[in-house]
Amino acid sequence: MPRTPAHRSRVGSAALAAAAALLLGLAPAPAAQAGADGEKAAPTLHELADRTGRYFGSAVDNPELADTEYANLLGSEFGQTTAGNSMKWDATEPRRGEFDFTQGDEIVNYAQSKGLSVRGHTLLWHQQLPDWLTSGNWTADELRSLLKNHITNVVTHYKGKVVHWDVANEIMNEDGTYRENIFYKTIGPSYVADALRWARAADPDVKLYLNDYNVEAVGAKSDAYYTLIKRLKADGVPVDGFGMQAHLALQNGFPNQLRQNIQRFADLGIDVAITELDIRMILPSDTAKLARQADWYGQVTRACLAVERCVGITTWGYSDRHSWIPGTFPGEGAALPWDENLRHKPAYDAISAALSAAAKKEDRQH
Ligand code: XIL
Repeated sequence: MPRTPAHRSRVGSAALAAAAALLLGLAPAPAAQAGADGEKAAPTLHELADRTGRYFGSAVDNPELADTEYANLLGSEFGQTTAGNSMKWDATEPRRGEFDFTQGDEIVNYAQSKGLSVRGHTLLWHQQLPDWLTSGNWTADELRSLLKNHITNVVTHYKGKVVHWDVANEIMNEDGTYRENIFYKTIGPSYVADALRWARAADPDVKLYLNDYNVEAVGAKSDAYYTLIKRLKADGVPVDGFGMQAHLALQNGFPNQLRQNIQRFADLGIDVAITELDIRMILPSDTAKLARQADWYGQVTRACLAVERCVGITTWGYSDRHSWIPGTFPGEGAALPWDENLRHKPAYDAISAALSAAAKKEDRQH
C-alpha cells in the first residue's frame, strides 16, 4: 500500500514537549489537559497510525451510539469502525429476500459524519443467521442461489461505503479442516470461491477478506488459510486480504510467531488486518495482569507495524464499558485499552508508544 503519511508535518510539538518535560524531570501533562496552555493535544491512536499509512479503528454496536460520551470518543480517537452486529445476515436479511439496512446504515452514517472508514462484517458466518435460512432444507443449488442473492444485495447496497468486506467468517476448525457450517454441508468447499466471486462482481473496488480467530499464531488453523488463499490466488479467485481477529486471552499465552505469520500471508500478495483485537483476562484484574495486557497490546501493534502489508488494527470495542467478553466468557473481561470510565489503561499507553515510535521512524524516512 502507498505510504503517504497525511500528518507528517505534525511530528510534533506534543512529542517535543513531552521529551522536554522528561528531561526537566516533569511528569508529562495528561492528555486531557494538553492543549490548555496552547500545547497541541496528544495525538490520537489513529493520527499516529495514519502517519505510517495505516488505520486504527474500533468496532461499535448500534446501541452504543446512544452513549454520547462513548460515541464522541470513538469518533475522535479512531479512523475506522466495524459494525459489531448490524451487517450480519440475521440483521440484513431477516426474511427471505427482504433486506433491512437500517442498522448498518446507522453505523455508516455515523462513521461518515466523523470521517471514519468502515469494514463490512460479515457476508457469511455460521452464527447470527436468520431462522428462515437455518431451518430450511435446501438443496445445494437453492442454497447457492440464496447465498449469491444475499451477497449481491448487501455488497451492492454498501458499494463505495465500506473499504473491506469480511466475505467469509470463521470457516475453519482448529485442526485446519473446514467448519461444517450450513454452506459447507450443503454445497461443499466451493462456496468460498463462489462467495468471493459474487462479492467481486457486486463491487470491483472493495477489498475482500477471509477472517477468523485463533489464526494469529503459526499452526494448523493458520496453515489451512495459508494453503487455501494460495490456491484461491492460483485459481484467479478474488481474495485481497486476511483478517486475524485476535481475540486473545492472557491465560492462553501470546500467539507464537505472530509477526512471521502476518508476513507469510503478506508474502502471498494480500493485505493483512488485525480485525477484532481484544485481550481478556480472568477477573478480577490487577496491576500485574494489566501490565501483561499492555505488553501484549504493544506486541500486537508492533507485529502489524513490522509488516508493510498489515494495513490496520481494529479493536472489538475500545472500553470495558461496552465489550462482548463478560457476556460470552463468564468470569473474564477487562479486555480493552480504556476502562469503564473511559480512562486510559496501561494498554492504551503501550499501543500509543508503539505507534508513535513507528510514526517517528516513518517521518525520518521521508
Ligand atoms: C460478537 C458481538 O460482539 C456480540 O455482540 C454478539 O452477541 C456476538 O458476536 N467474532 C466475530 C464477531 O467475528 O462477529 C463476534 O461479535 C465476536 C467474535
